[in-house]
Amino acid sequence: MSSNSSRGVQTSVAIESSEPTVGTHRSDTVRVGVIGYGYWGPNIVRNFHALDSCQVAAVCDKSTSALARARKVYPGVHLTTDFTEILTSPDIDAVAVVTPVWTHYDLAKSALLNGKHVFVEKPFTSTREQAEELIEIADRKNLKIMVDHTFLFSGAVRKIKEVVDAGTLGPLYYFDSTRVNLGLFQHDVSVIWDLAPHDLSIMDHIIAERPEAVVATGAKHLNGVADMAFITVYFPGNIIAHVNVNWLSPVKVRTTLIGGKDKMLVWNDLEADEKIKIYDKGVQMTTGAGIYDLLVSYRSGDVWAPKVQQTEALKVELDHFVDCITHGKTPTNDGVAGLRIVRLLEAAEQSLTERGSIVTL
Ligand SMILES: NC(=O)c1ccc[n+]([C@@H]2O[C@H](COP(=O)([O-])OP(=O)(O)OC[C@H]3O[C@@H](n4cnc5c(N)ncnc54)[C@H](O)[C@@H]3O)[C@@H](O)[C@H]2O)c1
Repeated sequence: MSSNSSRGVQTSVAIESSEPTVGTHRSDTVRVGVIGYGYWGPNIVRNFHALDSCQVAAVCDKSTSALARARKVYPGVHLTTDFTEILTSPDIDAVAVVTPVWTHYDLAKSALLNGKHVFVEKPFTSTREQAEELIEIADRKNLKIMVDHTFLFSGAVRKIKEVVDAGTLGPLYYFDSTRVNLGLFQHDVSVIWDLAPHDLSIMDHIIAERPEAVVATGAKHLNGVADMAFITVYFPGNIIAHVNVNWLSPVKVRTTLIGGKDKMLVWNDLEADEKIKIYDKGVQMTTGAGIYDLLVSYRSGDVWAPKVQQTEALKVELDHFVDCITHGKTPTNDGVAGLRIVRLLEAAEQSLTERGSIVTL
């Protein structure tokens, strides 16, 4: 166990099960146990519950008031305060870990060792080593890991991916994302580990190149963890990404700019309609004969708003999880994708602590 898991959940079941590994699915219904029914857990349970190909077999939370909320909505679902029931039940094929970040590694590891597929919240783990170990166990036991990078399944990000992959923007210049609002203040993780996984996973999905280095600055104003951070990610080919995350903003902003040589895209996730706009704008530099003969021309053409599907991202994502289990596919947002984000988060946290040092990846 990694030294960083000293706060870990004391699982009495973090031992390799003597039962055969589950790996292949036994029927056409995936039976899921969900651990954690706080703020985000109800969304996970609701969406699993709505899938035809899935059955929510049990929900666990150590808080009895959380379970009382679950009982009202799902009177027929088994509820427990003891996560070992979920981790060891022969009637559960997959476990969703929807608890605080520092518990992800222990719970996910126990689930895998007991032959369960794992859906784990973002960020995947607290350290790179923990993520690598979970990937290794899942590979060895032929089990799936999916990390909840919810936005990848939103209509907006699916459309952006389509637009970028089609080459509509031309070669990419930059990705610039702002995710700021007042709260929800977390006590156990910084704003980097809380909010930036969203932007970094979107960036990782959209930009095909792999990042080379990270620089981050930020500040801790209130309770010893960074509450605002400015993260810069350098890619090969002069592509640069920037992520601004902040819990201390008086207004909520969810805007991403993606600039390419040919066109530029603006995604405002707070817009009800026309979340994405594509601008046929660009800059061209041409040099004439003389040294001072630099000609800059700006191109400003049409603006259009492509249609964005409105389906709930989590529904599409959980459907993908169940499909991957049932048909032996690799999730888009598998453990390896989760590990890439954990590496970026670690690098950003290190750079911020060192007041903006360059951390190579
Ligand atoms: N994908 C998203 O958009 C999104 C949004 C919010 C939160 N999250 C993630 O979801 C996770 C949970 O966040 P939250 O905001 O719901 O936290 P929360 O504190 O509101 O809820 C966590 C719940 O887990 C329970 N819990 C903790 N340890 C437990 C254990 N060992 N056994 C049983 N129950 C346990 C707590 O009692 C609590 O009810 C975090 O990893 C967070 O990053 C993701």
